[in-house]
Amino acid sequence: MFNLVKGTHDVILDEAQQYSYIETLLARVAEMYGYSEFRTPVLEYTDLFVRSVGNSSDIVRKEMYTFLDHGDRSITLRPEFTAGIVRSMVNNKLFANQDFPVKGYYCGPNFRYERPQQGRYRQFNQFGVECVGVSSPERDAEIISMGFNSLLMLGFKNVKLSINTLGDEETRKNYQEALRNYFGEKIDCMCEDCKERYKLNVLRILDCKVESDKEIVKNAPKITDFLSEKAKKDFDAILKILDALEIPYEVDSELVRGLDYYTGVVFEFHYTSKLGKNYGAIGAGGHYGHLVKEIGGPDIEGCGYAMGIERLASVMSDDEIQLPIEKGLDVYIMPVALTDYSEILQVAEYLRLNGFKVEVCLEGKGMGQMFKKAERRDAKLALIIGETELKDGVFNVKDIKTQEQITIEKEYLLDFLDKAINQKGHHHHDHDCCCGGECCDDDCDCEHDHHEHDCCCEHHHEE
Ligand code: HAM
Repeated sequence: MFNLVKGTHDVILDEAQQYSYIETLLARVAEMYGYSEFRTPVLEYTDLFVRSVGNSSDIVRKEMYTFLDHGDRSITLRPEFTAGIVRSMVNNKLFANQDFPVKGYYCGPNFRYERPQQGRYRQFNQFGVECVGVSSPERDAEIISMGFNSLLMLGFKNVKLSINTLGDEETRKNYQEALRNYFGEKIDCMCEDCKERYKLNVLRILDCKVESDKEIVKNAPKITDFLSEKAKKDFDAILKILDALEIPYEVDSELVRGLDYYTGVVFEFHYTSKLGKNYGAIGAGGHYGHLVKEIGGPDIEGCGYAMGIERLASVMSDDEIQLPIEKGLDVYIMPVALTDYSEILQVAEYLRLNGFKVEVCLEGKGMGQMFKKAERRDAKLALIIGETELKDGVFNVKDIKTQEQITIEKEYLLDFLDKAINQKGHHHHDHDCCCGGECCDDDCDCEHDHHEHDCCCEHHHEE
């Protein structure tokens, strides 16, 4: 037996289906907003993250999976997507023709050497979006609204949106000075990390999670008191649009986010599940003013967010949000005392190619066992086929739930399954069906039998 690497987890069976559903839905929503998919490598040069996420961030200082490859190059497993996505936009010259904004969505694993706990893994999945090239409060507001609405479409009804602004250059310069003055007198009695942060980037002290530092951090000056005229105007414009779009939010003046590339608006989506569990932010993002230039692109700005798939899935499970996914088989094929399975397998393939979910019992089991298996696999119908049926070109079809059984000629099978499965319950109950069953409605003057595709009558054909 080999154990999982600490902080990693398998995603299998129902949970894997849930992940796929979440990722597909988020991708479809992103496409509705005009975003296209980006798939970038998990491996990037370490310097990309040092330059973008920032060497004062916890991610770069403590959490990256970094190694030298055989050519002595420093490589890092991506701890987040934004830097790699912007790098790919620059490398692929997507800004060359000035057709802004460039909009990308992405999904996949990230790696951070964090302390594993509820909702926090060392390998975790994100879905995110980046919109690069046009900078306006309207664009930022639209992105926040897209994140909020994506969560709504997943069935999340009580999302709490926290929002703040890190302002413009002037704001941050004044704010950093105020923080340096404030923490300057207190830094000697704070944790070692904070002492380092004080030197590298005083703003990062606000991320400190050490209990004994919390009171000092809480009483630190707030950025909202340092906003320049322009920063305040832009932030108010974003809030005004969110109001117009009826997106509820709370301004949290302590929200600064742990990545260095943010400038302007920052936000987080939070959710407490019905079980009272809080998995931390289920999604987060913000505006980045200098990242594109830092990575070698033009002097343009961007905004985006990423959602944590693990956290979304946990909330969905706690809140019992059902996936609109049909589970189980359409048809379970039961061979009865057959020695040659070729025809049975032909039928199975024919049905699959026509879109039905089909399994065949190839283990030579008895009828009782096969019915139990059909129930366990959640099959809707059983197709029972022996030598006689093969010879006569007919199938016995049994509804697993109602236990009703009818015999269908081969040529009518698809039509029958289509009605029984795709159009749900429209199958007739004519035991001698195929064909000659009569229309059950006395007043109906149709002259067709019930397998007629173009039958004009709209009644069920029951006997
Ligand atoms: P982040 O806040 O580091 O931002 O991560 C975004 C989301 O990923 C979090 O809100 C959380 O749901 C999930 N997440 C983060 N770390 C973990 C973990 N260890 N285990 C499970 N889930 C986790 C970013 O990554 C930015 N790149 C977001 C962004 C995009 N900003 C602009 N564009």
